[in-house]
Amino acid sequence: MPKSVRDIPEFPAYVEGQTDHEFMAAARAQGPLARNRLGIISGFSLANMDMINDDRWTRQIELEGLFVSGVRDGPMFDFQRNALLFSNGQTHRNRRGPLVRSFANKVIAEMRPNIAARSRSLVATLRGAGSIDFVEAIAGPFPAQVIAAIIGASEDDTGMFARHVYSAIRGLSHCSDEIRAESDADMAALDSYVADLIAPRRACPETDFLSTYLERVKDGPLTEDEVRAQLAALVLAGSDTTRGALTSTVSQLLQHPEQWALLVEDPDRWAEAAVLEGLRFDPVIGSLPRITLEPREIEGFLIPKGSFVAVSMLTALRDPDVYRDPDRFNITRTDHPRLHPVFGGGPHRCLGEALARIELEEALKTLVRMVPDMQLDGPPVRLRGYGAVRNLSGMSVLI
Ligand code: HEM
Repeated sequence: MPKSVRDIPEFPAYVEGQTDHEFMAAARAQGPLARNRLGIISGFSLANMDMINDDRWTRQIELEGLFVSGVRDGPMFDFQRNALLFSNGQTHRNRRGPLVRSFANKVIAEMRPNIAARSRSLVATLRGAGSIDFVEAIAGPFPAQVIAAIIGASEDDTGMFARHVYSAIRGLSHCSDEIRAESDADMAALDSYVADLIAPRRACPETDFLSTYLERVKDGPLTEDEVRAQLAALVLAGSDTTRGALTSTVSQLLQHPEQWALLVEDPDRWAEAAVLEGLRFDPVIGSLPRITLEPREIEGFLIPKGSFVAVSMLTALRDPDVYRDPDRFNITRTDHPRLHPVFGGGPHRCLGEALARIELEEALKTLVRMVPDMQLDGPPVRLRGYGAVRNLSGMSVLI
C-alpha cells in the first residue's frame, strides 16, 4: 500500500553557510522525496528525473509561474504565452517543429569554425588586461554574440542586444516589481528588435537561418506573435544557461590546476570531456518542474493528479548509482550517460544542446591556448538556487 503525499518529509531547515549541494544532500539523506512549503514534491535521483520528463503523465508548466507572482499581462507574459518552452502537446510541436532542423547537430557543427573565431577575437581584446570580471567580459557576451549572429543581428548591435537579453531574462523568475518593470521594458525592446530583423528577410530572403525559418513557418499555424516569440526564446534560452555553464566550468578547472594543465597540454583531447564534467558538477539548471496529469506511485508514495513535481539537478547529477565518486570534479571520468541530463529530457529536451556544447568547447580551447596562465583573482564563482537557471556571483580572473 503506497504512502500518501502527507508522509513525504519536508525539506530540512537551511543551515547558515551550507552550499546548495550540501543542503540538497541533507534533504536526500531524509528519504527519496521531499516536500517544500509550497507543496512542490522533489525527487533526487536520475531515475526520478527520467520519470517526470515523461509527457504521458506530466506536462510542462505554462503560465502558472507568472500567476503565482501575480503577473497577468505585459511583454514577459506575452512572451511566455507564445514560447515553445511554456507550452504542451500540439501547440508545442507546432512551435518546436520549424526550429528543429536548423539546430540539428550537423547544421550546428558547420558553425564551429565561426564560433571558435568569435571566441578568439573576444579573448584577444582582453589578453594582458590584468584582473577582469570573467562573467561580464567573456561568459556573458560570448553566447549572446553567437545567438545574435545566428538570428541575423548586426555586429554593431550585439552589445545593446546582450544588455536587453540579460535584463529581460530576470523576468522569467520570481522578482521584485522594480526588476519586473525593467525586464518588461527590455523584453519589449527585444521583441521589436526581432520584428525589425524579420521584415527585411521577408521582403528579400537570403540563405541564412532567419530566412530559412521564415520560409518554414510561412502559411503554417503560428501567429506572428508566436513567430517572434520562438526567435526570442532561442535568444533567452541560449544566453544565461551558457554564461553560467562556462563560468562554472572555468571556475572548477581553475580550482583544479592539474586538470586545467591537462587541457593546456592537449585541448583537442580534453575540451569535450571538460565540458561534460563542468555541466555535471555544479549545474546551471537547478531543477525542472512539471505538473502531473494522472496519479502515479513514486518511491512508495502515491502522487495525485495535479501535483507540482520536480527533481533536483544538483543531486541527480551526483547520483551515486550513476556516477562513481560523484562529489569529485574529474574531467577524466567515463561514466556520463549518453544523453547529458543537464539538457533535460522528453519533448522539451534542450534544442540548443549542440550549439551550447560547441560554444563551451571552443571557449575552453581558446582560453587554454591564448591565456594558459589565467588564474582566479578572488573567490571562485558561486551558483545559487534550486530551480530553473541558477544565479551567478561574479568571478574575477587575472588574464
Ligand atoms: C549549457 C547551456 C544550456 C543548458 C544547460 C540548457 C538546458 C536546457 C534545458 C534543461 C531545457 C529543458 C527545459 C525543460 O524541460 O523545462 C532546455 C530547453 C531549451 N533550450 Fe537549452 N540549454 C542550454 C543552452 C541552450 C542554447 C545555446 C540554446 C539556443 C538555441 C538553447 C535553447 C533551448 C530552447 C529553445 C529550449 C526549449 C525547448 C522546448 O521547450 O522544446 N539552450 N535547455
